[in-house]
Amino acid sequence: MQHPTPIILIAAIGKNNELGKNNDLLWRLKSDMNFFKSTTSGHWVIMGRKSWESLPARFRPLPNRVNCVVSRNTDFQAEGAHLFSSLHSAIEKALESGAEKAFIIGGAQIYREALADGLVNEMYLTHVDASFEDADVFFPTIDDATWERQEVGHFESDENNEFAGVFFHYRKKAAGS
Ligand SMILES: NC(=O)c1ccc[n+]([C@@H]2O[C@H](COP(=O)([O-])OP(=O)(O)OC[C@H]3O[C@@H](n4cnc5c(N)ncnc54)[C@H](OP(=O)(O)O)[C@@H]3O)[C@@H](O)[C@H]2O)c1
Repeated sequence: MQHPTPIILIAAIGKNNELGKNNDLLWRLKSDMNFFKSTTSGHWVIMGRKSWESLPARFRPLPNRVNCVVSRNTDFQAEGAHLFSSLHSAIEKALESGAEKAFIIGGAQIYREALADGLVNEMYLTHVDASFEDADVFFPTIDDATWERQEVGHFESDENNEFAGVFFHYRKKAAGS
């Protein structure tokens, strides 16, 4: 029997759940970029229109991945990506297509909707060891009663990484556990 496609959220967040500012990231973290690339390569990636626009032109579409962009504007042109009018329809398409894995890669609106609607059972969150007073988008509060997490790696602050960070794999707790 074919297994259903896991829908996995992946994000990097600051100490106060900061995600970005002025439609850009708040940091330059090569180790996190590499983790994102190796985790998502070969799979589907689903993102909001603003995150798509925030990608540098040379990384758009993200190579070796099926890029999916969500927008309410059905005329939006996302060259090299599939356009969907809702997050749910993008996820349905990934499931229908038998994708091995589909990743929700942001931004704030899309993460919020995915968590509020219970669309993900698994997350990779990089906890960046810094806070940012000027952030303008945030990840939702992570409920410890809902999620259990395991550290899967870390990096130090160095010439390639502005800040240190820890990679965590989150899984939704079984009901009643
Ligand atoms: N730290 C991280 O890991 C990370 C990851 C990704 C992004 N980011 C940051 O997050 C910020 C962008 O996030 P954001 O919240 O502003 O934007 P976003 O979630 O990337 O995109 C929002 C757009 O998606 C579309 N959309 C959202 N919900 C929809 C729905 N239910 N149905 C149809 N379309 C829907 C709308 O597009 P239309 O307006 O075209 O209808 C909306 O304006 C940037 O600063 C980026 O750098 C950070």
